[in-house]
Amino acid sequence: MGLHTNLKLYQDRVNKALLTHLTFQQTQQPDTPNTLFLALHYATLNPGKRLRPALVYAMGEALNIPLEQLDSAACAIELIHSYSLVHDDLPAMDNDSLRRGLPTCHIHFNEAMAILAGDAQQTLAFYLLSHDTHVSDRHKITLIQLLSKASGTAGMIGGQVIDIESENKTLTVAQLQTLHQLKTGALLKTALLMGACQSPQYSELTEAIERFGELIGLAFQVHDDILDIEGDTQTLGKPQGSDERAQKSTYPRLMGLEASKNHRDTLISHALQTLERLPIDSSFLQQLTLYIAQRKH
Ligand code: IPE
Ligand code: IPE
Ligand code: MG
Ligand code: MG
Ligand code: MG
Repeated sequence: MGLHTNLKLYQDRVNKALLTHLTFQQTQQPDTPNTLFLALHYATLNPGKRLRPALVYAMGEALNIPLEQLDSAACAIELIHSYSLVHDDLPAMDNDSLRRGLPTCHIHFNEAMAILAGDAQQTLAFYLLSHDTHVSDRHKITLIQLLSKASGTAGMIGGQVIDIESENKTLTVAQLQTLHQLKTGALLKTALLMGACQSPQYSELTEAIERFGELIGLAFQVHDDILDIEGDTQTLGKPQGSDERAQKSTYPRLMGLEASKNHRDTLISHALQTLERLPIDSSFLQQLTLYIAQRKH
């Protein structure tokens, strides 16, 4: 099956699961203001690529984990990612007004609602993981440990703080790599680990999966930096030139556009080599890896 057919299957699956969960929460909570559910809906079911859920499913399927046992992990990681975008776009952070082709959450609603909707996406992620009836308690704990680590001070949030504190500064390549690995790489790597962790082969494969995840995670953000320069706002669905305006620390700013592309391609080829050594049928993961560096948005 080609990349787009397979990706679409997973996108549809996670979108449907997210819709079901949000609708269920809403019907169970008649006293919670409807505006919050409208904002949650808006910021979650907008047309994102669903790459992190796709990585959960792809890695899980490659290790023969049934899809029903992967749904809450796929939803949870997309909720965390979507919340990170809602907050990333706030005036106090990147101050952007377009996301996934639509006005950002704080523009469509207001800042307070965007902050609270992001908070609610985050708590819903852990609610879903902890309430999943398809996953054993032992594996639930592992999933919660993985996601909380990758999204907290040692992962996405830590990286976002470095990102904000690095505006108007020149970092070393090592510092920039750390920034990218934390703000973006940690969640992408963790999508793979969440997909794999219910497999009996998990402990013997963890290291190689982590290595593969680190390579694609970094390549993904280097490509995101490149797209900020070379993309156009309509295709990106978010404002082109946002990094330049905010004087962000990015790969192109530090090493130039061509060197950034070469670096991205080197990371991708190392990722493919790492993937080849894993004892799994990885053809879809291979396609996703190539897509990370070729995507137009
Ligand atoms: C954008 O992530 C934010 C970064 C971490 C660079 P994606 O490019 O995966 O965004 P969506 O989910 O498809 O909107
Ligand atoms: C964001 O990085 C990473 C997050 C944790 C959301 P960017 O600020 O580069 O993401 P975009 O370009 O706005 O999607
Ligand atoms: Mg940002
Ligand atoms: Mg941003
Ligand atoms: Mg960016």
